[in-house]
Formats: sequence, C-alpha cells, structure tokens
Amino acid sequence: MDARQPLVGGNWKMNTGPEEALELARAIIDALDADWAQRCDVCLFPPFPWLSHIGREASDSPVLVGGQDVSDKISGAYTGQVSASMLLNSGCTMTLVGHSERRHGLGESDSLLNAKVRQAIAEGLQVMLCVGEQLAEREAGHSEEVVAQQVAAGLEGVLKEDLSRISLAYEPVWAIGTGRNASPEDAQAMHRRIRADLEKQYDAPSASGVRIVYGGSVKPSNADDIFAQPDVDGGLIGGASLDAEAFLAIIQAAASSSAS
Ligand code: 13P
Repeated sequence: MDARQPLVGGNWKMNTGPEEALELARAIIDALDADWAQRCDVCLFPPFPWLSHIGREASDSPVLVGGQDVSDKISGAYTGQVSASMLLNSGCTMTLVGHSERRHGLGESDSLLNAKVRQAIAEGLQVMLCVGEQLAEREAGHSEEVVAQQVAAGLEGVLKEDLSRISLAYEPVWAIGTGRNASPEDAQAMHRRIRADLEKQYDAPSASGVRIVYGGSVKPSNADDIFAQPDVDGGLIGGASLDAEAFLAIIQAAASSSAS
C-alpha cells in the first residue's frame, strides 16, 4: 500500500487585508518546523489579490500556494475570472475547485466544476476537488450517494495518468464554519467510500495514491483524532487557518499522523 503524505490546506476565503495576509503567511513559513514540512505538505489559499505577494514570500520555502478557484477557460472575455496560467504565474501550484461556498453558494454545476478540473490539470496545476453533502441530504440518509456523484461528475474524463494531480476534500456542508465537525468515524467511512469508488473508476493502486482530506470545523483540539483515521490524509482548514498558531498545531497533528 502506498504511504500518502498528509496535506493541510489553509483556505483563507474572503478574509485578510494585504498586510495581515503577508504577516500570516510569514508567521506560518517562519515557524514551520523542517521535520513537519517533510512529513506534511502545506498549501495556503489566500484571496486572489494577495496571491503573487504570498507566492513570492513562499517561493524559497516548503509552503505551497494555491488559488481558491480557477476558470474553466484559457483566456479571453471572461470578466472577473482567473485562469490557470494566471495562478501559475502568481506562484501557485494548486487550486481548489468546487468549494461548497461556490458549488452551493454560487450554484456552480458539476459540469462547470468538471471543466475547471480538466482545464487546471491540462495547464499543469494540482487540483483539490471539494465535495460534501448538505444537512438535508445527510438527514435523508443520502450523504454517500450525493458525494459519490459529485466525485464521479467532477472527475469525468480525467485520465488515470492525471490522477496524481488530484486530491479530494470531503467537506460536509453542515460542518463548515459551524463548529460542528464530522465524527472521525463518519469522516473515515466517507473517505473509505470515496476511495472504493475511485478503485472502481480507475484501479486500486491509483486510488490508493489519491489524498482525501477532511474539512469542516477542524481545530487543534480535534485534528489528532480526525487525522488518525486511515483514509483521512490531512485537512482543509477555514477559520483556524487564519490563526498561525492554531494552523501550525493542525499541521503538527497531520505530520504526526504520518509518523504513526
Ligand atoms: P471551517 O474550518 O471554518 O469550518 O471551514 C472549512 C472550509 O470550508 C475549508 O475550505
């Protein structure tokens, strides 16, 4: 079985001013322990306007930088959109696609998200595809099928040889920003199901290499238990990623989970 290096992302969403963003990035970069960095990949997802500053700041460090979203188009008359090549030119190596605040908040469809995934990997970015059920879907007992469908639709047409460019973030919508995280056991069950589906869609060796991270109210106090689950390969962190000390504690938890 492949050992998957944990990955912790800090999704700053629409937070931070220019100086605050730089200070936060510097605090994380400066304090990141070399040993943790070897055992855990770390990616910051700042707002677009700060990307190139933070990209420069992180360029000589192990910290990666990513976009919170990417266009499905190469270039042209698409007001307000940001292309994969613009992200690459700003120092990004990764992008989120399909975060619930876009999928559900802005009504982005599975077919649009699939086009974004394919465009981003075609241009050389790594993609973290976000999936997750809403509360009503969970209460109706449909979580697994909803998430399975989002994964299958998001990855449609993605070739096996490109799967190494993909990671998945399971973020149950009811857990985002609510202080109410999925239990470690529930997260593990969903991650296991996602991996089983990837095995069917691709094959077992490819599926076992895909990192599936959990997001939704991860904090230093619950990170150890969540990351200890065998199919949970790190986290996508919102609120706690805006506090360098809390974010570093979460990175430490992920790095330690890979050592056990
Ligand atoms: P919180 O960690 O604030 O719940 O946000 C999770 C998230 O949406 C990360 O993308």
